Amino acid sequence: METVEIFDTTLRDGEQSPGAAMTASTRLTIARLLDEAGVDTIEAGFPISNEVSFASVKAIAKRTRHARVAALARCTQEDIEAAAGAVSTARRPRIHVFIATSPVHLRHKLGISTGRALEMATDAVSRARTYCDDVEFSAEDATRSDPAFLVQIFSAAVAAGATTLNVPDTVGYITPAEMEALIGYLRAHITGVERVRISVHTHDDLGMATANALAAVRAGARQVECTINGIGERAGNCALEEIVVALQTRADVFGAATRFDTANLQHISKAVARGTRMPVQKNKAVVGANAFAHESGIHQDGVLKDRSTYEIVDPRSVGRATTLTLGRNSGRHALFARAGALGLTFDEEGRREFARAFDRLAAQQASVGDADLMALAAGSALTECAS
Ligand code: KIV
Ligand code: ZN
Repeated sequence: METVEIFDTTLRDGEQSPGAAMTASTRLTIARLLDEAGVDTIEAGFPISNEVSFASVKAIAKRTRHARVAALARCTQEDIEAAAGAVSTARRPRIHVFIATSPVHLRHKLGISTGRALEMATDAVSRARTYCDDVEFSAEDATRSDPAFLVQIFSAAVAAGATTLNVPDTVGYITPAEMEALIGYLRAHITGVERVRISVHTHDDLGMATANALAAVRAGARQVECTINGIGERAGNCALEEIVVALQTRADVFGAATRFDTANLQHISKAVARGTRMPVQKNKAVVGANAFAHESGIHQDGVLKDRSTYEIVDPRSVGRATTLTLGRNSGRHALFARAGALGLTFDEEGRREFARAFDRLAAQQASVGDADLMALAAGSALTECAS
């Protein structure tokens, strides 16, 4: 089984979500949780952007015990010096330099030629290497760039000393089949590719961030950049929880595993949701409130007979539990299983009456909780119930 490294960018790209800025102490807590859970690299921030960011990256670098700590930098001397300064006390520092490579970014954003971008990338990687042995180079908007130019700039980055080459789908544009082909093409043509790790960084503008990252893994990418709860610019980044659980669940397809201990997922997800004030949508894969909840009678009956009928992930493996919610769509099997768990037992007539009372209540409210069941059982029509 090959290892796919997890590069968590919750504290950098994730924090770029509108309104998601976290306090310094929340950032430290999240970095600690990520470190303990086994991420390989924590991208702690973009130190040149402001003094708060610089100080926070520095504090995270000092306290992180296992993971690498990366800091982002554009291809300028000031950015690289700030990044190098911020991670200098890390046990395992990384400088992550990037420059845009697509015609649209080069023309409209940077106003430079491909030749100038090539020169800036080479100089930046060489400069970063004077501070740090571990340098990642990203070709921003790679998926809208000329693949032949990507080969040229990535080959130059390897020659200048880059140790990881990152392929960002900056605007969430590519499709999984195209991503698989692009990574395959880059691996076949970059000079010195055997000396470096290929990474992928995907965004979710078309809802394909996780699928694209997994397609890259199939093609040989061995680092995935992702965020907890999929937070990040615009529609967000590839969600860490989806990547690690997909690789674990479908090892038969991907043949690769991460070092991340999935039992920590729920806890970290909640910490990030609280810290960023960005609640997780109920139906979010793996960490959403409904990810392991079943309400329809047929599904509840199946899960009560054997969990694997409707659950492909053991909820305990991600710090969760199966829940059978009771409402107008739920079935008798789940109703009496829950009643039994609450210590309610019935004779035949009590059972019928309890079920009718439940139906009446479920017709009036969205869900029926334990307190409702206790109240129903205590109702005068159910005096035969023993509780
Ligand atoms: O989306 C992107 O291109 C980025 C790079 C800085 C890696 O976040
Ligand atoms: Zn990004």
